[in-house]
Amino acid sequence: MSIQTDHFYNNFSFLYPMVDVFLKPQKRRLFEEINTLPYGQLLEIGVGNGKHLPLYSIHKITGIDTSSAMLEIATKQKYPNIELLQMNGEQLLFPDQSFDYVILSHVIAVVDDPERLLQEIHRVLKPYGKIFILNHFTPHNWLKYVDQSFQPLSRIFHFKSLFYIDSISSIKKFRLLKETSFGHFSYFKLLIYGKA
Ligand SMILES: C[S@@+](CC[C@H](N)C(=O)[O-])C[C@H]1O[C@@H](n2cnc3c(N)ncnc32)[C@H](O)[C@@H]1O
Repeated sequence: MSIQTDHFYNNFSFLYPMVDVFLKPQKRRLFEEINTLPYGQLLEIGVGNGKHLPLYSIHKITGIDTSSAMLEIATKQKYPNIELLQMNGEQLLFPDQSFDYVILSHVIAVVDDPERLLQEIHRVLKPYGKIFILNHFTPHNWLKYVDQSFQPLSRIFHFKSLFYIDSISSIKKFRLLKETSFGHFSYFKLLIYGKA
């Protein structure tokens, strides 16, 4: 995690609810998947302001984030079964095979080193554990030019507008179990991978 990304999210935390309006329908779909899984230990990396935390209806939840400002908002809501910690997803402080599920909601294109993030997730996931990745993925059609044109702006907002999941070689450590697309252009997707 870079200091710049951390500063950005610390300063931007009060504006995040406006961004969240656009992300809500996909998050609802994500939680439909998560809440039908058998009870387990769940880690959410980049939990942000935690406004979605009430949507978790089962599981033992641990949420982490590097931004103290985002976590401060998240901890204002009191949920007895949810533990929130300041921690870097690229350098997890949990023992190997601690979790059944890991959630990355609009985080994988934000972290500095997605390779390291996925390696760490692979380490802390139990055998047959699952990872849920909700994000924008640059489509292999004309929309890639839109993502390209947004690149200078996206640097200011600390995310990768041009983002292909297959460009992260550590994703090959997982097996794709399910892919759900949202909208006509399939710009946002929910990808579910399993640890073999
Ligand atoms: C775009 S927000 C997404 C927040 C939330 N998951 C959501 O879907 O609304 C990205 C979040 O990831 C956090 N973040 C960025 N890099 C991180 C890292 N290396 N480890 C943990 N959290 C990180 C940021 O502080 C921010 O809160």
